[in-house]
Amino acid sequence: MNLLLYGAPGSGKGTQANMLRTHFGIPHIATGDMLRAEIQAGTALGRQAQPILAAGQYVSDEIMIGIVRHRLGKPDCAPGFIMDGFPRTVPQAEALDDLMHELGKRFDRVIYLKVPVEELLHRLSGRLVCPTCQRTYPPQTTACAADGSALVQREDDKPEAVRPRIEIYLDKTVPVLDHYRHERLVSEIDGRGTIDEISSQVLAAVNGKHSSPLMGKSPAAGRAQGALPEKPGDGAKTKTA
Ligand code: AP5
Ligand code: MG
Repeated sequence: MNLLLYGAPGSGKGTQANMLRTHFGIPHIATGDMLRAEIQAGTALGRQAQPILAAGQYVSDEIMIGIVRHRLGKPDCAPGFIMDGFPRTVPQAEALDDLMHELGKRFDRVIYLKVPVEELLHRLSGRLVCPTCQRTYPPQTTACAADGSALVQREDDKPEAVRPRIEIYLDKTVPVLDHYRHERLVSEIDGRGTIDEISSQVLAAVNGKHSSPLMGKSPAAGRAQGALPEKPGDGAKTKTA
């Protein structure tokens, strides 16, 4: 089972990836987590990446493609994996196609978590993360449920980095969705609702019980279908992701 989680910063990719890795027993490959681990370890890559992440910008395609190539070649990915945070640009998507082809793999589903910008801003400003295992938690959580570590705020969740992250997503990452739409792999899910509600919809999509577009039966899902443009060119660039 090879899955790709797609969505804006704060849309819930990491949250749902945690659920999927427990459910399917396959690794969660999160490029942001990998970069933060390099920063924490003080490697040359970490020193290069730190100011880029802090400013909410993207690390170069060349570096990111190299990281993912190395990771997907590891044996634990053989039964499948959950990709989160890559590809973020069209060149990354094209490189991933080539890499998947080389490895004899294909994606079973692309899950697009669609959340309005106002909700993203609200979530990111309150999010807490475990510095040990990188799991994410809502505000007021005191300790990591997995390892008991005290939770911290991510450097790029500070207000000055959050808007640039959403802007660069709209500019560089929204076009990546079309890449997968052409392959009819995308399940759109309204990312508003409780974490458990979204998890049920994600699992239904992965298990092929629903197949896009826009899943979810709540009134919020209905509103989203009519009110959430996907691309900057569709209007309301600052309102939607
Ligand atoms: P990355 O770590 O991938 O960050 P991101 O894409 O900005 O996404 P986030 O991790 O912020 O959000 P998420 O969707 O995982 O949401 P979460 O589940 O935590 O990348 C960081 C940086 O690394 C990038 O900015 C870039 O600099 C660099 N980078 C990484 N990959 C790169 C690449 N391929 N190319 C170039 N540069 C790259 O949820 C957020 C919060 O909401 C949490 O508090 C959670 O508890 C809460 N929440 C989740 N679901 C719900 C819900 N349904 N209702 C209410 N709250 C919820
Ligand atoms: Mg994440």
